[in-house]
Amino acid sequence: MDIIYDLLRFFHVISFVFMCVLLFNLIVANERVMRGISFNYDADNHLENIIKNGFNWCYIFQAITLVTGVLLLLLGNIGIEGLWTDWIVITKTIILIVLMGTVSYVHFKLQPKIESFLTAITTDTEVPGTLLVKLKPYRILRKWITAFYLFLVISAIVLGIQVYAPFNPALTVILIGISGLFSLTANKILLRFGWI
Ligand code: HEM
Repeated sequence: MDIIYDLLRFFHVISFVFMCVLLFNLIVANERVMRGISFNYDADNHLENIIKNGFNWCYIFQAITLVTGVLLLLLGNIGIEGLWTDWIVITKTIILIVLMGTVSYVHFKLQPKIESFLTAITTDTEVPGTLLVKLKPYRILRKWITAFYLFLVISAIVLGIQVYAPFNPALTVILIGISGLFSLTANKILLRFGWI
């Protein structure tokens, strides 16, 4: 049983580590911003595919986090009642549901809108000068949503490591603050040295 529990912990942890793929989406998007305004068919399509797939993968990692989390409750000391009695588990579950909603919004609403601008363009098409200007607000919104997503994932990690041994509340608040600052930084600038 111990081996199964440890395996579940491994898959629980590795799934939200992989959810941080969206951090790399932000890095890729900021690399694109650094390249300047002109539209490049191959580069922009490549970028869109990377970003789209990153969001799609998140569904899988979210599902695994949820399933392994519930199994950890069932097999561990907390029990399934942790879902309505343990504030850390309740908060992590709510965060996970918000993350699912956020990814669904991007997947079903925002990404199709962005792609609708690009479908008419092929390698040979003359690209209208206004295309990137029209795309820009949607890409900016997607970056903000991604940064918010990253903030929630890091905050859930801060809570996750406290399931059995809560930190000092002030430390929790400080760490969540650092999560917010880091997510804002990743949204605004191209991270070059890990944290900055
Ligand atoms: C984005 C969502 C989540 C994140 C980032 C997250 C993060 C974490 C982290 C970092 C740990 C500590 C792992 C360890 O030290 O072994 C953990 C443990 C745990 N998580 Fe989550 N979690 C999430 C969602 C959930 C959900 C939805 C549940 C339950 C429904 C859950 C239940 C648990 C339990 C029971 C443990 C204790 C495992 C143990 O250490 O024995 N988690 N989580």
